[in-house]
Amino acid sequence: MVQAWGFGRFGGAEVQELFDRPDPVPGRGEVLIRVDIAGVNPLDHVVRSGLVDGLDGGRPFPRVLGMEAAGTVLALGTDVDGLEEGDAVFGFALTGGGTYAETTVLSAPNTARIPAGLSATVAATLPVAGTTAVDALDQLDLPSGATVLVNGVGGGVGLAVAGLAVGRELRVIGTGSAAKREPAEAIGVRFIDYTAGDVVAAARELAPDGVDGIIDLVGGTSLRTVVPLARDSRNVIAVGDQSVAELGGRFVERRLDRENLERAARLALDGVLAPVISAVHPLADAPAALATVENGHAAGKVVIKVT
Ligand SMILES: NC(=O)c1ccc[n+]([C@@H]2O[C@H](COP(=O)([O-])OP(=O)(O)OC[C@H]3O[C@@H](n4cnc5c(N)ncnc54)[C@H](OP(=O)(O)O)[C@@H]3O)[C@@H](O)[C@H]2O)c1
Repeated sequence: MVQAWGFGRFGGAEVQELFDRPDPVPGRGEVLIRVDIAGVNPLDHVVRSGLVDGLDGGRPFPRVLGMEAAGTVLALGTDVDGLEEGDAVFGFALTGGGTYAETTVLSAPNTARIPAGLSATVAATLPVAGTTAVDALDQLDLPSGATVLVNGVGGGVGLAVAGLAVGRELRVIGTGSAAKREPAEAIGVRFIDYTAGDVVAAARELAPDGVDGIIDLVGGTSLRTVVPLARDSRNVIAVGDQSVAELGGRFVERRLDRENLERAARLALDGVLAPVISAVHPLADAPAALATVENGHAAGKVVIKVT
């Protein structure tokens, strides 16, 4: 039996429990892995809450938390191409395995080998935040010298997208609370503390003619506040709030395939995609890890070190 953090019914943090389960059996297109590192994401508590059912593959209760991990392949299911037992891999648990666990199943088409030289800790942050950062910037497709506003720059996706944007020679303005100033400015972001005053006025001081694009990681009222800063609302890409379409913007188009994971890994190896990992928790402290993200003000990425 192996340990896993999951939930026996939908709800708040109170429904989370550590339980024992046998190793999951990898099915068609799945690989069983020993989890080294699990990434923690806002989606994990959304799935636990039951607000959006099915995103985690919808297996019967108890369900295991977590959508992304890095680890070592222990066994292959049927119809698995390009992966072998013993490979160090990272990827998505899209079929219900859950990754806050000592072993889990990943979806093989959404799993890639970790290239030599890349740590499992960094690799575990790439499936969700890393590839989202790449996808959002690709979709925006701004030329070098253009100005992009990253709304919610201090979180897992925000710092990754800001670093990538600076690497593409974009001028980056980022919003966050005061504690995010230092990590954001360290990668070259012109920072606006949204708790300290009028964000739009502060942004207009930095970009009097508005910005060429916005990547929004906050949504809701905050998204609506910053949209008028974009010279063209089609260049507003939201990552979490689908209502961006009502404002003339676009929801991020995601690529979860192996090729995109490999691309993110190459960018990480080259140091262009440099996730900021603010906290590493042991598996026993998984609830604390998720609570940090669930409170909505995480700094960079939070991960769980399982093995
Ligand atoms: N579509 C997809 O495939 C996909 C993939 C990844 C993420 N997402 C979604 O994208 C969103 C961001 O993900 P994430 O992993 O980056 O989350 P995260 O790590 O929790 O970061 C969110 C950041 O937003 C900041 N923030 C909160 N309110 C703000 C405001 N009013 N103005 C500016 N910043 C604010 C928070 O800290 P401070 O308030 O302290 O600055 C925090 O650093 C989530 O909704 C997530 O579910 C979607």
